Amino acid sequence: MKKNIGIIGIGNVGSMMLRKFIELSLFKEENIYIANRSEEKLKSLREKYPSINICKSNMELAQSCNNILLCVEPLNLPKVLLEIQPYLKKETYLMVSTSMVAHKDICNFHKGGITIFMPTLISMVNGGVTLTFHNELVKDNKRTFFENIMGSFSEVKIIGEEDINLAQNMTASFPGFFAEIMLEFVKAASRRSTNVSDNELEHMLLVSLLGASRLLLEKNMSFEETINRVSTKGGITYEGVKVFEEMLPNVFDAALNASTKRYDEITKLASESIDSLTNGCSQCSKAV
Ligand SMILES: NC(=O)c1ccc[n+]([C@@H]2O[C@H](COP(=O)([O-])OP(=O)(O)OC[C@H]3O[C@@H](n4cnc5c(N)ncnc54)[C@H](OP(=O)(O)O)[C@@H]3O)[C@@H](O)[C@H]2O)c1
Repeated sequence: MKKNIGIIGIGNVGSMMLRKFIELSLFKEENIYIANRSEEKLKSLREKYPSINICKSNMELAQSCNNILLCVEPLNLPKVLLEIQPYLKKETYLMVSTSMVAHKDICNFHKGGITIFMPTLISMVNGGVTLTFHNELVKDNKRTFFENIMGSFSEVKIIGEEDINLAQNMTASFPGFFAEIMLEFVKAASRRSTNVSDNELEHMLLVSLLGASRLLLEKNMSFEETINRVSTKGGITYEGVKVFEEMLPNVFDAALNASTKRYDEITKLASESIDSLTNGCSQCSKAV
């Protein structure tokens, strides 16, 4: 089989995947097919990657590819699945870049191999964790295919579908959470700073953070050990740590409650949308 791949939805995730495929020579341009709702993005990609196959519709892409990455928003996914469903073959391999549409709902459209994954934009710089769930119809060769691709620019973590909601806070949502936390840290420091600019404060934080992550990972140090080593009793770090220890649990509990609740709401909305699309759709009951 020709090593082809199609990407539907060229937004943050789809365009990251496309760039990585070409940058790391994972696929030849002529073996990549792309489709997107708005045409502007496709036009600029045509100029950048002249040999790439630009499809006029999601249906055209589904007819041309056996390996299809779906990188659209969760609430747009049901409609895309309905469009492509008549062209999906038993051997078509679907890779869905969101876990907010449940596997059981995707199965209404395709009874073959489905991998649900939560990528992270950290992978733009070859890092981060890709949370991955394969259904039982993903054969070994397809597992290897997916894990080799994603493993080229991220760490692939196989996980149960039911665990992704919580775990994705540590991976996919992390850059956003981290940016907000650091922003507040910089703002608090800025309110107290006379001579050091916000840009300088931000740079110090980022360099410290990169180093701290490496220190913990490379020296296999736990968070507790690091706190003990850095914060001497009675010292300055110790005083700050005590405040974080007291106040952060409420903040993190509230943030996790909010994000996991919204995840469940979106999953429910997508499920309802799939129910309404598939009810009365004669083709859907014929899914291979
Ligand atoms: N961003 C992240 O960090 C991240 C991390 C993990 C998982 N995800 C998941 O990955 C998916 C994509 O996220 P994203 O951040 O890349 O979203 P995004 O930037 O909004 O991109 C979505 C893309 O899908 C296209 N699209 C929407 N409906 C379509 C349709 N019917 N047919 C063809 N293309 C369609 C959009 O086209 P237009 O150009 O017309 O808007 C857009 O280019 C989402 O399900 C998200 O939950 C995202």
